[in-house]
Amino acid sequence: MLTQAITAQPSLEFAADVRAGLTKPQKELLSKYLYDDVGSALFEVISVLPEYGLTRADERVLRHNAYDIVERLPLPLMVAELGSGSGKKTRWLLKALARRQHTAYHPIEISPTALAMCKRELGDIDCISIVGFEREYLDGLAEVAARRKNNQHLLVLFLGSTIGNFDRPAGIEFLKSIRRSLCPGDSLLLGTDLLKPIPDLLDAYDDALGVTAAFNRNLLVRINRELDGDFVLEQFQHLAKFNPRARSVEMHLLSTREQTVTIPAAGFSVRFQAGETIWTESSHKYSRDEIFQLARDTGFRCEAQWVDTEWPFAESLLVAE
Ligand code: AVI
Repeated sequence: MLTQAITAQPSLEFAADVRAGLTKPQKELLSKYLYDDVGSALFEVISVLPEYGLTRADERVLRHNAYDIVERLPLPLMVAELGSGSGKKTRWLLKALARRQHTAYHPIEISPTALAMCKRELGDIDCISIVGFEREYLDGLAEVAARRKNNQHLLVLFLGSTIGNFDRPAGIEFLKSIRRSLCPGDSLLLGTDLLKPIPDLLDAYDDALGVTAAFNRNLLVRINRELDGDFVLEQFQHLAKFNPRARSVEMHLLSTREQTVTIPAAGFSVRFQAGETIWTESSHKYSRDEIFQLARDTGFRCEAQWVDTEWPFAESLLVAE
């Protein structure tokens, strides 16, 4: 087992993005900023909550079908994972792959904490070498693709329905960008959460224990800490709502009163009306057919699809055309 890390420069964009987002008519903050060390740890807790079936479904589908998935892949092959998280669900695939070949596995993560967790979780599997990249997804993928040897295929893992955190047009553009890093015959294993009854979705994003609320409000704590902001946490409530037009669950932070917040390191103050919200994340939900169409629209064909029935969730193997 080999592990090493290739780290990024700290981002200088946070202040600019916060200012741009909070000065829009519908105030918003980019969901990627939910994942500082605390946010990443809270997301790990979310993934084991009874209300949030998504991560367990993802893992179940991979566990039950790992050999079938791996049998369909051309060898030799290297693996890149966009947003590996703890890496727990990837174990099944890597173990199945390790029976066929020695495999280089490259998790790509903006969170150093998640990258470290992933290496701890997967570092014990024989015949797998891990080199992680602390990078934005597409930058990391370009670096991984540049490492491949002549006859090596690339398998990209984009699991956990992270595609759902893009709106539909941006999701299409993102898959097209992935496709541009691939050669014909390379593969993308895409995990997508499927549409399900709205009450189940709302419970998943507003759990009884308040972990998702803490995950959401942590973004304000992060702004206070990193940008010297003066958000009063108690004056912002977590809100989850279903958007039927976008087929997404939206997370917001609702200002419970009229107030002004100052963020000195971003050089501005922002006024909130009572009831006004900051939109922090959307989780789009898909149908199975839509995924086949998505593949066709982005330069892939959907070779196979596996679905969890307990918590409707699809794992789709897309092959680059
Ligand atoms: C990472 N992503 C797929 C999660 C989701 O379901 O959209 C993030 C999350 N937000 C709230 N709970 C989980």
